[in-house]
Amino acid sequence: MSTHLDGIPPHGGQLINRIATVAEKEEFLEQGDSLPRVQLDERATSDLVMIAIGGFSPLKGFMEQPDYEKVVEDMRLTSGLPWSVPVTLSVSEAVAEPLKEGNWVRLDDAQGRFIGVLELTQKYHYNKAHEAVNVYRTDDHNHPGVKVLYDQGPVNLAGPIWLLERDPHPLFPAYQVDPVQSRQLFAEKGWKTIVGFQTRNPIHRAHEYIQKCALEVVDGLFLHPLVGATKEDDIPADVRMRCYEIMLERYFPSDRVILAINPSAMRYAGPREAIFHALIRKNYGCTHFIVGRDHAGVGDYYGTYDAQKIFAEFDPQELEIVPMMFEHAFYCKLTEQMATTKTSPAQKEDRIHLSGTKVREMLRRGELPPPQFSRPEVAAELARAMQS
Ligand code: ADX
Repeated sequence: MSTHLDGIPPHGGQLINRIATVAEKEEFLEQGDSLPRVQLDERATSDLVMIAIGGFSPLKGFMEQPDYEKVVEDMRLTSGLPWSVPVTLSVSEAVAEPLKEGNWVRLDDAQGRFIGVLELTQKYHYNKAHEAVNVYRTDDHNHPGVKVLYDQGPVNLAGPIWLLERDPHPLFPAYQVDPVQSRQLFAEKGWKTIVGFQTRNPIHRAHEYIQKCALEVVDGLFLHPLVGATKEDDIPADVRMRCYEIMLERYFPSDRVILAINPSAMRYAGPREAIFHALIRKNYGCTHFIVGRDHAGVGDYYGTYDAQKIFAEFDPQELEIVPMMFEHAFYCKLTEQMATTKTSPAQKEDRIHLSGTKVREMLRRGELPPPQFSRPEVAAELARAMQS
């Protein structure tokens, strides 16, 4: 049987598994009623899952204060390993107050289901403004990631976690491919180089173009749309996944692409999130990672290529996963193909590019985005979803 050792090592060298064994689960269930409870929101729930399945390796739990502070300050864990985004369980004073360090805490999801356990090793206050400015480069409450930060509780609960059970995803069970499985799939296919693609938007032709440019030089493409919490006006994950299915049926060679869901929540932290996204894909076994224009950005908070520039702050060997950077892609009317300024002589008036906002406005008016922006089948699916 193949192991993760066949491919790129996980971040920190070991793929973390914090899913309770059958015996552990039984023990946790027995104790469940007597443990103090903390209810997780959607983001904390997806973080719990990501830690448990190894997507956040080397994290074994929610960050203790020294790691948290080092990450906010220096983009590193106390071990020195690169890590760019805090992974914390933040609760109100009222929830934190009765909990004692050394206690075991029962973790329930938003529906009140018992899903995990935290061995509470530390609870601590943290500075929201400092986190906002360092991680998001702004403390503007209109930034969706900053808003979540300011809305959450002032105390972080930290310590190792266990997930009671890895349930199939309610909407996309067929696409639930955890790091152990993706690594196995890559090995079975004989892929040595795999490029990961992060996305939270419906696939458009610029996405397709950069995916295919990358696919020209690596063995396989790991399409990894994020299906955890996103901001309200982002297109829902089920619509995005249908668009991907349509694309894979018609526009990609089936043996060179794997479509799988990324259960994490979006932070919209732009550059810092690009590093985070790359490390997650490294844990899934990707050797390369696509970073295009304004990766994980929102509004005008980040420069178009800030999420690419941040990779220069690390030694490539400590990240190991190789960023594949792409300029802003558009449809070039002169050469009648997708291109960037690196490959096309087109001036502004000869480029077709539509912003997500513009596309949403068109769809709301009942207009379809043009084929130079979106494949017609995808445009039709988006229009159908918008109407229903
Ligand atoms: S993101 O928040 O997940 O980054 P999105 O799904 O739009 O948003 O982008 C997925 C990836 O495609 C990111 O790496 C992004 O930089 C890249 N990308 C999106 N649109 C373009 C474009 N027109 N040209 C180049 N890269 C792009």
